[in-house]
Amino acid sequence: MTTATRPKGSVGAATTRVEGRDKVTGAARYAADIPFTELAHGWLVLSTIARGRISSVETGPVLEMPGVLAVLHHGSEAPRVSTDYAGLLGKPDPTAGVFQHDRVPHVGWPVALVVAETSEQAKEAAEALVVTYEEEPHDVAFSAARVDDEAEGAAPDTVEKGDLAAELAASAVVLDAEYTTPEEHHSMMEPHAATAHWDGGRLTVVDSNQGSTWVASELAEMFSLDQDSVRVISEHVGGGFGSKGVRVHQVAAVMAATVLQRPVRVVLTRRQMFSLTGYRSPTAQRVRLGADADGRLRALAHSSLSLTSQVHEFVESSAGFGRTMYDADAHHTVNHVIPLDVPSPTWMRAPGQAPGSFALESAIDELAEKCGLDPIELRARNEPETGPFSGLPFAARNLLGCFSEGARRFGWADRDPRPGVRRDGRWLLGTGTASSSYHAGVGPSTAAVTAEADGTFTVRITAADIGTGARTALTLIAADALETTPDRVRVRIGDSDFGQAFIAGGSLGTRSWAWAIMAAATELRELLLPGAVIPPEGVTARSDTAAAIATLPPKERHTYGAQFAEVAVDPGTGEVRVRRMLGIFSAGRIVNPLTARNQFVGGMVWGLSMALHEEAIRDQASGGHVGADMAGYHIAGNADIPLIEADWIEDADPDDPVGINGIGEIGIVGTAAAIANAVWHATGVRHRDLPIRPDRVL
Ligand code: MOS
Repeated sequence: MTTATRPKGSVGAATTRVEGRDKVTGAARYAADIPFTELAHGWLVLSTIARGRISSVETGPVLEMPGVLAVLHHGSEAPRVSTDYAGLLGKPDPTAGVFQHDRVPHVGWPVALVVAETSEQAKEAAEALVVTYEEEPHDVAFSAARVDDEAEGAAPDTVEKGDLAAELAASAVVLDAEYTTPEEHHSMMEPHAATAHWDGGRLTVVDSNQGSTWVASELAEMFSLDQDSVRVISEHVGGGFGSKGVRVHQVAAVMAATVLQRPVRVVLTRRQMFSLTGYRSPTAQRVRLGADADGRLRALAHSSLSLTSQVHEFVESSAGFGRTMYDADAHHTVNHVIPLDVPSPTWMRAPGQAPGSFALESAIDELAEKCGLDPIELRARNEPETGPFSGLPFAARNLLGCFSEGARRFGWADRDPRPGVRRDGRWLLGTGTASSSYHAGVGPSTAAVTAEADGTFTVRITAADIGTGARTALTLIAADALETTPDRVRVRIGDSDFGQAFIAGGSLGTRSWAWAIMAAATELRELLLPGAVIPPEGVTARSDTAAAIATLPPKERHTYGAQFAEVAVDPGTGEVRVRRMLGIFSAGRIVNPLTARNQFVGGMVWGLSMALHEEAIRDQASGGHVGADMAGYHIAGNADIPLIEADWIEDADPDDPVGINGIGEIGIVGTAAAIANAVWHATGVRHRDLPIRPDRVL
C-alpha cells in the first residue's frame, strides 16, 4: 500500500489494492485453487437439444471408467431441491435446481454430473456419457415483430402519463426510430467454481460469488437447511458483472458432496458459461420523441422487447432509462418480454440501462439533429426539476455539470455539427456524446469492527470484492472512521459467517458496506475510553444499518455522467476505430481515485465493445450458440482501445455517512450511444443496430 504513513484522511487518496501483492504473486487463492483432502471433481454434462425430454442416461459404461465415483441425473439419487421461495432478489431461477425432472428447456441444460477422483477422469467420463432424448420443436427466434408473443400472464411493465398521440401530433419535430442490441455475455475472467463439503453437520461451500450470505441463504432454502448450517466463503473473485449468484455449479457440488460425503468441486468451462451463467437478452426498442421547435420534449415514448427462458421471467428493462432522465408532457415507457427455448438471461452490468441508453441517447441525438440544436443544448433544455413521475426532488443532479466539464476538456465547442465533412486521409472523422446515469441506492448490512490488543483493527463484513477494489475502499473508510492509518486496519470479507450484508450488485455494494462499517466504527470509538486496556480478545462493536437506511428521505437518487467519443470510419472497409473517449461523472464522493477510475474506464471499454464488437449468435436450427467461446464471441482487444479518460465532479451525497453514491455500473451507460452518434457525425449515416460491424457500415 502507498498509504502507510498518511496522517489523516485516507478516503480520496489514490491507493493501490490492499490484496494487490497477493494477487500478482499468486498468494491469493481463487475458489478452484483452494486445496482439500479427499477432493472429488464433478463435470457437468449439458443437453444437446433445445427442447424435449431426457429418455435415458446410460450410466453403466461410464461408472466402469477409471476414477468415476457417481453420475447424478434426474433419475438417480440426486437430492431433491426446492426453488419455490423468494430470495433477496425475488424468486430464484428454477434452472438452478438441476436433476429434478426429465424436461430440457434449452440447449446446454445440465442433464448429468459425473463425479470422479480427478477432473480429467470426470471430463473424460462426462464426454463418454450417452444421453438420449425425445426432441420437440424449439423456438429461439427473437425479433421486434414478436412483441405479440409476450409471456402469458406477464403484465407489461408500463409507466405512463399524458396523451401520447395528442402530444406527438402537436409536436413541431417528431422522431420515430427502432434500435436493436444483440445477446451479450458477461464471461468474466474467473469462471464459476465451487467446492462443497459437509463439516460436522454444517455445509460449507467455497465459492466465487457476489454475496456470500446471499448464496448461503439461497442454498439453505433450496436444500431445506437451517440458515445457520450453511457457510459460504468467497474471498477473491475474478469478476462477477451480475452473473455470480446461485447457479448450477454450487447446487451440483452440494448434491454430490451430500451423496458421496466428501468434498466435491464443480468448475464451469468457458463454453459452459455461455448457457449456464446468464447473459444480456437481445433487445428490440422503439423510441418516439416529439418536440417543439425549440427542442422542448412534448412526447417521449420508449418500448423495449427482450426475451426470457420458458422457466423463469427475467426482464431486461431497457425502457426504464427515460423514466428519470427526461420529462415530457406525454411520457410512455414499456418493457415487454417473450419466453423462448433459451437459457434464462440475467443481470449484466447496468441491466436495462446499457441497452436502454443506447436507444434513447441515440434518439436524443437524432432529435437534436432534426431540431438543428447542439445535442448538449437539447439536453439542457430538457432538464427536469423533479422526478418526471415521482415528483420527488433529485438528491443531486449534476448532468449538466458533467457535460460542461466534459465539453471543455473534449473540445466540443469547436465542433462543426455537419456530418460527413471531416477527413483524415481515408478516414472520416466524427465526435459524439451521450448522457449516462444509474440509480444510486443502499442496502442493509451488518459489520463488526474489533480493536485488537496490538493497536490494530479488524473489520469483518460479508462484502464481495469482485475485482472492483471494494476491499481497499472499505479499508480507507474504516481507517478514517477509526482515526488511524490503513496499514493498521485489516478488512476481512467474503464469509457468510460474518453476518448478513448486501451483495456486490446494483452499484450498491461498497456504499452499503461502508455505511455498516462507519456505524460499527463509531460505536467502537464510544466503547474505547481513553486509556482503556484492550483485552487479548479485543473489543468488538457491531452494526446493523437496516433501521438507519429505512429513514433515508425519499428523493430521486441517481448518478450522472457525460460520455464523449471521437471515431474514425473507413468507408472503404467499414472499419470503425474509436480514437479517444472521455467520461465525466458525478457520482458522489470518490473513495479511491485509482480504482474508481479503473471502474469507469472498464465500463467505457465495455461500452466500446458493445458498440462495435459483441454479439452472441444463436443458431436457429440447433437452438445453441455459434462460437460459444472467447474466439467466437468477439470482444474489444487492447488494439481496439484508444486513450480513455475518466474523471469526476466531486459531489458528496449529504444523506450518506461517507458521501458515496456507487459507481459500479455507470461507466457503460451511454458509451455505445456516444460512439454511434460519433459514427453518424463521421459518416452522415445512423446506425441503430449494434454492434456497428464493418458489413453494416459499408
Ligand atoms: Mo450488477 S449487473 O447489479 O452485478
